[in-house]
Amino acid sequence: MCGIIGYIGNKNIVPLLLNGLKKLEYRGYDSAGICIVSNNRLHLVKKKGEISQLAKNPELNEINGNIGIAHTRWATHGEPNKINAHPHFDCKKEIAIVHNGIIENYHALKELLEKEGHKIVSDTDSEIVAHLVEKFYSGNLENAVIKALKCVEGAFGLAIINNSEEKIIVARRGSPLIIGIGKNEMFVASDVAAILNHTKKVIYLHDNEIAVITKQDYSIKNLEGKQIDKKICEIKWTVDQIEKGGFKHFMLKEIFEQSNVIKNTLRGRIKDSKIKLTLNLNTNLINRIIITACGTSWHAALIGKHIIEKIAEIPVEVDYASEFRYRNPIIKENDLIIAISQSGETADTIAAVKEAKSKRTKTISIINVVGSTIAREVDSGVYLHAGPEIGVASTKAFTCQIVSLLLLALFIRQEKGLRLDKKILQELSILPKKIKQVLKKSDEIRKVAEKFKDSKNFLYLGRGINFPVALEGALKLKEISYIHAEGYPAAEMKHGPIALIDENMPVVFVSPKDHTYEKILNNMEEIKARKGRIIAVINEEDEKLNKVAEDIFRVPKTRAELSPIINIISLQLLAYHIADLKGIDVDKPRNLAKSVTVE
Ligand code: M6R
Repeated sequence: MCGIIGYIGNKNIVPLLLNGLKKLEYRGYDSAGICIVSNNRLHLVKKKGEISQLAKNPELNEINGNIGIAHTRWATHGEPNKINAHPHFDCKKEIAIVHNGIIENYHALKELLEKEGHKIVSDTDSEIVAHLVEKFYSGNLENAVIKALKCVEGAFGLAIINNSEEKIIVARRGSPLIIGIGKNEMFVASDVAAILNHTKKVIYLHDNEIAVITKQDYSIKNLEGKQIDKKICEIKWTVDQIEKGGFKHFMLKEIFEQSNVIKNTLRGRIKDSKIKLTLNLNTNLINRIIITACGTSWHAALIGKHIIEKIAEIPVEVDYASEFRYRNPIIKENDLIIAISQSGETADTIAAVKEAKSKRTKTISIINVVGSTIAREVDSGVYLHAGPEIGVASTKAFTCQIVSLLLLALFIRQEKGLRLDKKILQELSILPKKIKQVLKKSDEIRKVAEKFKDSKNFLYLGRGINFPVALEGALKLKEISYIHAEGYPAAEMKHGPIALIDENMPVVFVSPKDHTYEKILNNMEEIKARKGRIIAVINEEDEKLNKVAEDIFRVPKTRAELSPIINIISLQLLAYHIADLKGIDVDKPRNLAKSVTVE
């Protein structure tokens, strides 16, 4: 949510910052700006709209320098326009800041600063920070920032420069920030994608830490002024992974990556029919599991409930992180909390983990981004190893989350001393092949997308472990095509949504051949009788449902626990093709940002 990049060094700074912003564009894209120090002056260029708009600005050709900060915005306070775009200045235009997060007490601070004569020009909460730093500045930027941050409540990832000191000050509370270490150059960024083609050596800043960065060096303290030694981490991601690799969109690339990345999730975790996970858990003591997550990760959690209850034989509850954190949940000694998140930076999920920790419960995570906040907060965890997910609509993270949940369930079962079903391990090993078979249907699915792209509403129905697939299919469609879509348990449909069915309503059924099959068939007939237009995801050998459905996507049969993976891929493709055919920039759906780091 909003992207920050900063640079101090000798490279050509404008293209470097613009390229970094481009890599961060999935975090927000309603306005962008750059500020560069040159000849003891701050040069600021901002623009409403995407980074490509900013890049066209001729003023950028005239600026050069060795220190700069840049930002791509996802608006929270103040509409997306040029004035509200970052960086923001103080009154004298000698201090510039970029900010991710929300300054919660900004109304009070604004009133105070205005009384003191500060002229605040934007509607943002962020600009306040520039004026606070100005208020406290007396020749040392770091000291001024520390004093300013003592006044601030809320979340921030900040990069701050001024016209006279050759340094960038960065500070973090709640919004991710990393320092990239180069040779005679340093970078700051809200995530590694922005700097990966310059360095793989990074330091993750933790909450309430502040760093002073010069060309050759950095020093990190906490906000109380205590010096901190930090580990330098080596990023494993490659530059290719953050490029589109010939695909029209990141989302499509990531859908197609699924057969491979699932192998990475599995790699080294099944050996001699044993599950190898490094988890700090006494599985015999777990009485109940609560899984908490948001969005797509929450849908994976719902699938996880089915898998864990069946395999590990432990009751599971699933809670939206945003609800869990404020509900004062009853957590008991032998409960285990699992947080699922692609980014590991979702504000609500972080808060849910903190809530659980405050009650001294065991916490584990299922996360994609190594070193992210949630991964650091929990006792132990399982990384997805899905590689960077850049498309705003989550795809490969979802399927890798399901695989990880399955591994976790099998691990708990094994550690409890119960026998593992070898057939499921065999099925896991051929899953990538089966995924490839679904991916081959992309063109076929596009033809169906063409037929339905102008529909105004969609209903998605599924049962049992595939009900969350219906939810996820509907979420994918609405977030990238802006078509209203709802997911429902198929049998619930007759308790209300059936009133919506007419000849204009496409109804997508997720209907594998499992114990719910005959029931789903009845639900389909009910839709057909009301002239609803049925699209069904069915198994290859199914010769019944194809007679009821108008369009079918045939997918290979697999075990029930793995069927959500096989089934969702055709729905990801359906959503993708509909959005693409509508001419929408699939990687930048309106109003959305990849990781939601604000409440
Ligand atoms: O990074 P996280 O998995 O914690 O993100 C959670 C949601 O914000 C995310 O899944 C969101 O719903 C996606 N846009 C779904 O495609």
